[in-house]
Amino acid sequence: MASFSKAIIAILSLGTAVQALEYSRGNNGDPWNAWGNVQQGSHEAFGSGRGNGGDPIGGAGMPVPGANFRQCVKPWQRPVMTIATISMPAHAVTCHPDHRPCELDVAECQFSFSTFQYICCRDREDVKPPECPKYHSTLRTLCGGVNDVSCPRSYRCLPSRFDPNIEICCKPNSTIVYPEPDTSFRDNFIVPEHLPASPMTEIKIKFKSLTMAPGQLVATDDIDDLLKHAPTLLDFEGDDSKFYTIVLFGFPRNAPTFVKGANRATLHWLVHNANPSNGTFFADGYKRTSGRETFAYLRPLRDEKPFGIHTMVLIIFEQNAEMINKADFKVSQTNHDFVLKQWLEDNQELISTTPVAGSFYGYASADPHPEGTDLMPH
Ligand SMILES: *[C@@H]1O[C@H](CO)[C@@H](O)[C@H](O)[C@H]1NC(C)=O
Ligand SMILES: *[C@@H]1O[C@H](CO)[C@@H](O)[C@H](O)[C@H]1NC(C)=O
Repeated sequence: MASFSKAIIAILSLGTAVQALEYSRGNNGDPWNAWGNVQQGSHEAFGSGRGNGGDPIGGAGMPVPGANFRQCVKPWQRPVMTIATISMPAHAVTCHPDHRPCELDVAECQFSFSTFQYICCRDREDVKPPECPKYHSTLRTLCGGVNDVSCPRSYRCLPSRFDPNIEICCKPNSTIVYPEPDTSFRDNFIVPEHLPASPMTEIKIKFKSLTMAPGQLVATDDIDDLLKHAPTLLDFEGDDSKFYTIVLFGFPRNAPTFVKGANRATLHWLVHNANPSNGTFFADGYKRTSGRETFAYLRPLRDEKPFGIHTMVLIIFEQNAEMINKADFKVSQTNHDFVLKQWLEDNQELISTTPVAGSFYGYASADPHPEGTDLMPH
């Protein structure tokens, strides 16, 4: 009788342990909403949980969509995969923390709860690894959660400054420098979400007589007047004898990237063959004096959807040469949908893909007929 109840207790506590593990996976490891970024059909997507069983090889010998799902405990990482061969599909490279480290320097050996073995994991390219609040050194160890994993001495468990749902180990450090414009571009979800690398220098953007501060927000009532025409660009530290390409794109700040698919943005302006003159582009505002507009300036609207804050990013790329053919840059004139990373990939023979300069600003669009005002006289 006693051994029988012991067995029941053992089964119950095993069940609890498994539940705790499940819970910690969802809570501690992977806040789905924040790290969604799901691309349908991508085998690197954080799947629906179906692929969590651990077998990376499907019945037909093909990788199952979502099979890599959470193989890596840290949601900002993905497994390092072997090359598929005719006899063996690609699979996660295995390792051991004590006697078989990962070959790649950038990879970490991590225990995978989906396959119950140690595998090599590396940072994904399309999401930012978490970072501690400013003036803290970051140890990229997940902490908190139901298991209350503790941090080493002198570290505290704090939320990432990019995602409050992820807690990592942080240590105060007043000597850290935050270079600009890189820090602002990362903090504002521009790099690496839309752009692979931050611009090297800042540029000043001037609409009418207003020179914008970095990140300045234009109020709804000022949009129509202020943002009507393309800006003048000042303080460009470039070479007057070179040709540059200027790109202006926008995206809703509060809609996480995965809501709109693969980092989609709206193209607002695209000029190539632009020449600065004494550090200035388009000194006369919208009267262009150099360059060729591949895509004419698209003014943002005060009732632009979705209502709310939109981030506008202006970046300048150095061209490898003057572009002679009108059709060098291909962008759809009817569809403003724009995936900058894809565009850069398509045009890497024409421009160098790290922008030489850039800045960003925002505007706040609003519903012109908020509920209850429809019947008001105009
Ligand atoms: C503080 O941060 C700097 C730069 O990241 C680093 O070199 C230094 O070792 C850190 N100091 C401490 C005490 O952790
Ligand atoms: C070039 O710009 C500098 C500073 O912006 C200004 O002081 C100078 O007068 C300008 N030169 C010319 C030729 O416009």
